[in-house]
Formats: sequence, C-alpha cells, structure tokens
Amino acid sequence: MRAVFPGSFDPVTLGHVDIVRRASALFDEVIVAVGSNAAKAPLFDLDQRLALLRAATEDIDRVVVEPFEGLLVDYCTARQASVVVKGIRGPGDAEYELQMAQLNAQLTGLETVWLPTSPQWAYVSSSRVREIALLGGDVSGFVPAGVAGVIAAAAAKRRSGDV
Ligand code: PNS
Repeated sequence: MRAVFPGSFDPVTLGHVDIVRRASALFDEVIVAVGSNAAKAPLFDLDQRLALLRAATEDIDRVVVEPFEGLLVDYCTARQASVVVKGIRGPGDAEYELQMAQLNAQLTGLETVWLPTSPQWAYVSSSRVREIALLGGDVSGFVPAGVAGVIAAAAAKRRSGDV
C-alpha cells in the first residue's frame, strides 16, 4: 500500500523524520508530499523545503519526496495512494486533523492513518522552529543534522531584510 505524508515542512523537523521512518515500516511506499499552507507565510521556498526533506530522509527506504499542489485528494488519486499519514501531537492536532480526514474521506473515500508523535518530539513544530530561528535562537535540537545551519542562515538573511 502506498501512503502519502503531506505537509508544508517549513522546515522539516525531527518530528517529521520520525513519522516518515515509522510510516516506511508500515507501508510499501511513502510519498512525502510537500505543499503550501495558504494560511502561513513560508520561511523556505518549495525547492528549499524539498531539498531539506530529501537530505533528511535519504537513509530511509522506499520514501520519495515530491511537491504537490491543489487538493490532497486529487493528488492521492493521481499517485494511486489510498491512505494519508499524519502525526498527531495532541488534542489540538487531532481537532484540526479530524476535520480534514473526514472531509477527505467524504470527497473520495481517502483514508487517513494517525501516528501518535513520539513523546520526545511532541512539543516541536515547524512554526515554533521558524520563530526561534527568526529571533536568533539555536534550533539544532529540533531539526535534522545539516538543516540547522541552513535555517540559521535563512533566518539571519530574513532578519537583515535581504529577503
Ligand atoms: O504542514 P501543514 O501546514 O499542516 O500542511 C498543510 C497541507 C499543505 C498538507 C494542507 O494544507 C493540505 O492538505 N492542503 C491541500 C489542499 C486541500 O486538500 N485542502 C482540503 C483539505 S480537507
């Protein structure tokens, strides 16, 4: 069975990598689908988010990283994926994700499987990582090796008004 793990991944965190690793043990193939959340201003453009994710997941078997746009259900139909995987950190995620899962099921019958976030990453989110980085903090404990430096450089550039 082919699963899709969708998100904006701005940037990828150790919580995301944990979900990809665990999903790859459950499904034949995992497509990490990188989209854009219209409600959030991105720190990284799509190409940067794809590159960081590919580097962070290169040691995990049967994982591909792809961009997607439009409706998630249409993308899953096109890629012949019958299930979506989501990591759930707590009740806040569940409330938000339940509505999306139910809407997606109603639209095309797309199923959603929730993986409870591993406790050590339950407090990590891309938006907090962005906030810490933009304010000059160290995010190396929350993101894959090699990503922290890229994030710090992007945040410094943003703070200096270059971007
Ligand atoms: O990491 P995020 O910000 O939660 O990712 C959100 C994303 C891009 C996965 C979500 O916004 C999404 O699925 N967008 C596709 C548009 C869509 O299908 N919307 C209807 C969902 S019911």
